[in-house]
Amino acid sequence: MSITELVIRRPDDMHLHLRDGAMMRLVTPESARDFARAIIMPNLVPPVATVAMASAYRSRILAAAGDNTAFEPLMTLYLTESMTAEEVRHGHETGLIRALKLYPAGATTNSASGVRDIERVMGVLETMAELGMPLLVHGEVTDPAIDIFDREAVFIDRVLDPLRRRLPGLGIVMEHVTTRNGTDYVRSVETGLAATLTVHHLILNRNALLVGGIRPHFYCLPVLKREEHRLALRDAATSGDPRFFLGTDSAPHAVHAKENNCGCAGVFTATNALSWLAHVFEEENALERLEAFVSINGAEFYGLPASGHHTRLLRLDQPVSHPPELGSGDVRVRLFDPGFPCHWHVGNPD
Ligand code: DOR
Ligand code: ZN
Repeated sequence: MSITELVIRRPDDMHLHLRDGAMMRLVTPESARDFARAIIMPNLVPPVATVAMASAYRSRILAAAGDNTAFEPLMTLYLTESMTAEEVRHGHETGLIRALKLYPAGATTNSASGVRDIERVMGVLETMAELGMPLLVHGEVTDPAIDIFDREAVFIDRVLDPLRRRLPGLGIVMEHVTTRNGTDYVRSVETGLAATLTVHHLILNRNALLVGGIRPHFYCLPVLKREEHRLALRDAATSGDPRFFLGTDSAPHAVHAKENNCGCAGVFTATNALSWLAHVFEEENALERLEAFVSINGAEFYGLPASGHHTRLLRLDQPVSHPPELGSGDVRVRLFDPGFPCHWHVGNPD
């Protein structure tokens, strides 16, 4: 008999963009409703690059979470070339900062303050290794000579592998891994390297973005890849391997900024991420491994206990229905919609 109900520890989203201001107030309740904790990306303008900024940002997020008082934002700092080891130590000592995020300068949204020359941050990375503070990487090179579909694979060879060999004590998360090269690489390393996977990369390949018209709401970075890569990601996510866990990379942009001559990268999945994940795991006959992927593996990597709360997922004949968009006026976002029905409904029994 097929499984129609699943009760799991309340999930964590280990890679989330909540933005700031009106957008933050619009999207934060969507994550806070379904997730116990989330690793909060620091790519605001200006970037969240000091402990004081992260502390103030955390307070704004908690205010925006409203009634969802159990939601815990896990804060990160944006690694700039002027970051100091003292700031990292301070963030570690206060317990507020869980990780630093490395954006290669120019790789994606609000990455202009990112790292151009890794040599300039080696001192900070050594301190992080000493403290056990993980480095979260946007794993794409920015070399204009490298084709956009190859940028992840080249990053592994040129940046990630040399860095890991140089600083084997540094914990690293390859964020939103999108290729077989990425999942193979993570599997080839015994300790200290993990990867997050998004919902949209598990469901869509690059045809969805480009065939029959260009779909700006499927445009994200790293860009969707070919089918063989999507299959590799599904295999990694549903394997139960503790090195792979959920990071939605839910990245809201206003509709006018997506449907634009130069549309922004990002897919907004916070509202329906868990429903779609249950759909994927059911398709892969792996529902019994969903809890590991969304609620256990990530917590373990970050040294946290799994949530004491639970989430119930119910498969109903009636498909899940969400409004296509949230918000109004200039602050309107389109929900992730791959264009076929999803039957998994989410509830929170405690
Ligand atoms: O699609 C993306 N959107 N990828 C990123 O790396 C950044 C994110 C954003 O902040 O919009
Ligand atoms: Zn991201």
